Amino acid sequence: MNLDIDLAVIGGTGLYQLANLQDVEPHQPVTRYGALSGPVRVGTLEGRRVAFLARHGEGHSLPPHRVNYRANLSALHAFGARRVLALNTVGGITGRFGPRVLACPDQLIDYTWGRVSTFGEDEGSEVLHVDFGDPYTPSLRREVLEAAGSAGVELVDGGCYGATQGPRLETRAEIARMRRDGCDLVGMTGMPEAGLARELGLDYACLAIVANWAAGAGPQVDEVITFQDVLDNVAAASAGIPPLLRALLAR
Ligand code: HPA
Repeated sequence: MNLDIDLAVIGGTGLYQLANLQDVEPHQPVTRYGALSGPVRVGTLEGRRVAFLARHGEGHSLPPHRVNYRANLSALHAFGARRVLALNTVGGITGRFGPRVLACPDQLIDYTWGRVSTFGEDEGSEVLHVDFGDPYTPSLRREVLEAAGSAGVELVDGGCYGATQGPRLETRAEIARMRRDGCDLVGMTGMPEAGLARELGLDYACLAIVANWAAGAGPQVDEVITFQDVLDNVAAASAGIPPLLRALLAR
């Protein structure tokens, strides 16, 4: 069912709804890949049709490895969405990416395992070798960065997102290895979502919200990361998201 969506937003940990979305209608299709994380809330923002989906479910009931990424993306695609802005809560590894920073990464490394990571999985389906050199769509990244600029929202341009399996956080040694690999950010939901979006031909960009220093990456090396810190920092950093989205849609 094509609902003429101009922009789909997928919310991550701590981001379970979209402020100021008007005339909202929930849609919860079951796809050939199974059930979505929850309802897709379709409404109007800045006069544009916008869809919002909470990746972990509205009550945060789904851990990262249990999210049905294929169902979520195939439904957004069927609703007519052609661009997806993924909001991902992350830990920061390198200097520019401290808690409460917003970033628009341009690279990623996939450390996840055992997740269904392609639409080409089923018997008889086409084997898909999509280009993924730039995992995030450069034109959409540019639009997001320009929108942030015009809205006066600070947004770090670039960075490498390392996608880990979770749901536990990483060891200090794992984060040290990821830093050596070139990762600036670490999160658990960046993949297979970005790869599946590319298989569907969707424009896809990530708005990463840094919730904490990753293990051993901050000034206090043995700092313990609590879920409450994560939620508090996401709430604080999220203040920049509504103005950024308005500017993105007003373009
Ligand atoms: N590691 C992985 N995922 C995360 C983190 C982290 O430190 N913080 C928020 N999501």
